[in-house]
Amino acid sequence: MKLPKISEIIQDISYPMKKISISDKLYIFGRNPELSLAEIVARYNVNQSSPIIKDLTASGIIIESEKHISISNCGAVLKKCKIIGVFLKNIPISEIALVLETHISGEYIIDKSNWGISSYNDDSVHHATLNSQTLHQLAKKGFKSIGIKKAYYIPPMEGNSLTPQKLLRKKIIDEGIEFILWYRKKDVILCQTEEIIDIDSFAKRDKERPHKRLLLLLGLALARSMVNLVSVEKNKHNLPIYDPFCGMGSIIQEAYLLGLQSMGSDIDKSCVIRSQENLNWISQTRGKQFRKKYGIFPSKNIFEMDLIAPDIPLLQNFNGSIVAEPNLLTPLKTYPSIFEAKKMINQFEENYNRYLKGISQILPTGGICVLIFPQIHTAENIRLSLEIERLLKKYKFKICEIKANNAKFPSFFIHAWKSPIIERQILVFKKVK
Ligand SMILES: C[S@@+](CC[C@H](N)C(=O)[O-])C[C@H]1O[C@@H](n2cnc3c(N)ncnc32)[C@H](O)[C@@H]1O
Repeated sequence: MKLPKISEIIQDISYPMKKISISDKLYIFGRNPELSLAEIVARYNVNQSSPIIKDLTASGIIIESEKHISISNCGAVLKKCKIIGVFLKNIPISEIALVLETHISGEYIIDKSNWGISSYNDDSVHHATLNSQTLHQLAKKGFKSIGIKKAYYIPPMEGNSLTPQKLLRKKIIDEGIEFILWYRKKDVILCQTEEIIDIDSFAKRDKERPHKRLLLLLGLALARSMVNLVSVEKNKHNLPIYDPFCGMGSIIQEAYLLGLQSMGSDIDKSCVIRSQENLNWISQTRGKQFRKKYGIFPSKNIFEMDLIAPDIPLLQNFNGSIVAEPNLLTPLKTYPSIFEAKKMINQFEENYNRYLKGISQILPTGGICVLIFPQIHTAENIRLSLEIERLLKKYKFKICEIKANNAKFPSFFIHAWKSPIIERQILVFKKVK
């Protein structure tokens, strides 16, 4: 199966002949642009608003919509930015100065706060009147004009942009300002970051929850993105989320915090108890809005079950979506040979056949499943994976498509950081008749 590549999606999309307007929003992608794009499309579906993509690069996307999304609900989108102005490349500097001064005078900036500039798509930086050097000078003048005596410039560390970590540590969004320069062929779009991914709350939740199992744990940001991916299909939001491999309950807790009813099961009794305790803790400490509506997370929503022999009577009325990560753990410490990897694939094939059979018995027709499959990275630098399409077909599943303007691409993503032995293939599919 062909993995969607952002470069190909960019080629396939046609953009409406509409100018960028200040009511549009720019979103900056994370490490995996395909996943960020899918999550953004899914969140607009949750909002029931129809996004029109006006620009798309490997760094981010500009969207027109009657109602925009908040990235506090996302796990794979780094920044949301408002648009200050669009400047042709050779525009006189005085015109930029005017727009910038007017903008700064309307902003809340604290004296002695930090500020910064991040640039994206900057291959053409040298040819535009508006670039980070000119913006630096103009912004300093602008700060003075509104009575700010000192503002500390924080230079970008990685490439040409400030990371969300840096923006948070230096309180740039709350107290200062981050400008974004979004370079294009003929113009430069000047923006201001208004929201960033809340990495601190993911990290805090992860650290403080009563139970974790480092090796088997799914990152909370990824768990949140997976829950969001259910909505790449329209009208699938608000349905309950079920994780039949719940482990410590990462997926259930992110679904709960997104305001969704959630439930889980695991073959291992100790996992059931520990995720019940984690969910109890999360609903006592974090789920204020949801708790008001539904009360403390009910322990009975997490139960012991082997997905290979599902409790059909218990789940017969289930009308939601399944989001899960089966066991991908390997005892190997080094990359396996192709021979070893093939043996592992055979074992995975056997297991996934059983898992998919179990899922097909639980999921209603039209129901969505977001599931992680393994991809093994071998010592020879070859990647082996299951024959996913054949497996899905066997159990009457169809891969969902993501729709962006006129383009469509399959919901299939690779999540691999620092070259692990087993990489995660994330797939979104639905049950068909
Ligand atoms: C990768 S872990 C899930 C981790 C979880 N997403 C988290 O972040 O805590 C896989 C879980 O599947 C469970 N498991 C393995 N085989 C199972 C089966 N046949 N039915 C149900 N659960 C199973 C394991 O006990 C383990 O807790």
